[in-house]
Amino acid sequence: MASPLPTTLEVIGPDTFAQNGYPHAAWKRLRNEAPVHWFDLPGGVGFWAITKRDDLVRISKQPKLFQNGPRLAIFEEGAPVEGPRTMARHLLNMDPPEHAAYRNTSSHWFTPRAIQRRRPEVERIARDLLAKIAGDGEEREADFVLDFTAPLTLHVLADMLGVPREDWHLMFRWTNQIAGSGDDEYQSGDDPTEGVLNARDGLFKYFAELAMERRKNPRDDMVSVLVNSTVDGEPMPPLELMSYYLLLVVAGNETTRNAASGGLLALIENEGEMQKLRDTPGLVDTAVEEIVRWTTPVIQFCRTPVEDVEIRGQKIRKADSLMLLYPSANRDEDVFDDPDVFRVDRNPNPHVGFGIGEHFCLGANLARLELRVIFRELAERMSQVELAGPYERVRSSFLGGVKRMPIRYRIRP
Ligand code: HEM
Repeated sequence: MASPLPTTLEVIGPDTFAQNGYPHAAWKRLRNEAPVHWFDLPGGVGFWAITKRDDLVRISKQPKLFQNGPRLAIFEEGAPVEGPRTMARHLLNMDPPEHAAYRNTSSHWFTPRAIQRRRPEVERIARDLLAKIAGDGEEREADFVLDFTAPLTLHVLADMLGVPREDWHLMFRWTNQIAGSGDDEYQSGDDPTEGVLNARDGLFKYFAELAMERRKNPRDDMVSVLVNSTVDGEPMPPLELMSYYLLLVVAGNETTRNAASGGLLALIENEGEMQKLRDTPGLVDTAVEEIVRWTTPVIQFCRTPVEDVEIRGQKIRKADSLMLLYPSANRDEDVFDDPDVFRVDRNPNPHVGFGIGEHFCLGANLARLELRVIFRELAERMSQVELAGPYERVRSSFLGGVKRMPIRYRIRP
C-alpha cells in the first residue's frame, strides 16, 4: 500500500526547516502525486499547496485573477488569515492597478543600469569585510553569517536607503525580529505576534522621523525618494510609506544574506563545483543563478483567486488560499535536468527564486550584483574552506534563513 502523503507540518513546518532544512523529498512526492493538494492547518484556515513550476508561473502571471491579498503567506500553525494586511500595506500585498502605481515610485532605483553604478561601492564593502576576516592569510575561523553576509547586505541596503551608520544595528534587530517571528532567539515574550508588532512599531517610528527630516532636506537616497514621491498625484499615506521602508529593509536583508550563506554551504558540500568556479571565474553569473535556485531563500507566498478556477483538473473555490512553493518549483524534474544536483554552470536555468510576473523581485538586480561580487571574491581568494560548527537555520515557515555558519578557511589577504 502506498504511504500517506506528507502532512501539513512536514510540508511547511518551521521545525522541519529549522532542524533539517527544506523537506525536498516530501515536496517531490507532492509534485509527482498531488501537485495541487489541499492541507488543513491545525487551528487555522487551510490552503492548497502548488508545487510545480508551470502552475506557479501561470498563477503568478494572472495578478487580476489571483490576488496577493488578503493572505500574504502561510505563517504559523493557525495564524489569522487577515493578520499581515492590517499590519502593513506594501507591494507584496497590493494588487493591480494600485500595485504598479506604488512600484513605479522606486523601480528606477533598481534597473540594471542604476544597480550597475553601485558596483564599485559593493566591491569596496565586500573587500573591507574580507580584509577584516582574512588576517595574514593563515588558517582562521569566523562566522560567515555574522561576520560577512549579514553586515554586507545590511551595509549595501542602509546606504541605498540613507540610514546613518550608527543606526544599522537597529535595522539588523528589526529585520531579524520580523523575519524570525517564529524563532525564540529573536523574540522576547511568549507571543511571537507581539515581537513582530514591536519591531514594526520601532521601525515605523524610526523611519517616520528620518523621512520627515528628508522631506525638508532631500538627499540622493531612497528614504528621500519615497517620502517625496506621489501616487496618483498625492503623497503616499503614512502606513503605505512606512510599510515600503519596512519591506525594503526586510526583503533586502534576509534573502541575499541567506542565498550567500547557503551558496557557500553548497560549494563546501560540492568541492568539485568550487574548483570549477576557481578555475573559470567567468562562471560566476551562472553560479549565482544556480545558488538562487538551490537555496531559494523565499519559501512561499500566497495567491487568492477572485473567482472559482480549475488547476490541473482540481476545482479551487474563490477565496481559497494557494500557496506557491518556490523551492519545490525550482526542483521540478519536468523543467530541470538532475534537479537535485548543484551545478555552477547550469544553463539554461529558468528558476523562479525571485518569483515571476507582476511581483517579480524588485531587488533582483541588486541581489545578483551582491552575490556576483561575493562569489567572485571568494573564488579568487578563499583557497580553503570547511564548516567549523553546525549550520544553524532560522525557525520559520516563510524564509529559509540561517543564523550562524562557523567556517574554517584561508583567505589571501
Ligand atoms: C537572493 C535574494 C532575493 C530573493 C531570493 C528574493 C526573492 C523574492 C521573491 C520570491 C519575491 C516575490 C516575487 C513574486 O511574488 O513573484 C520578491 C519580491 C520582492 N523583493 Fe526580493 N528577493 C531577494 C532580494 C531582494 C533585495 C536585495 C531587495 C531590495 C532591496 C528585494 C526587494 C523585494 C521587493 C520590494 C519585493 C516585492 C515586489 C512586488 O511585490 O512588486 N528583494 N523577492
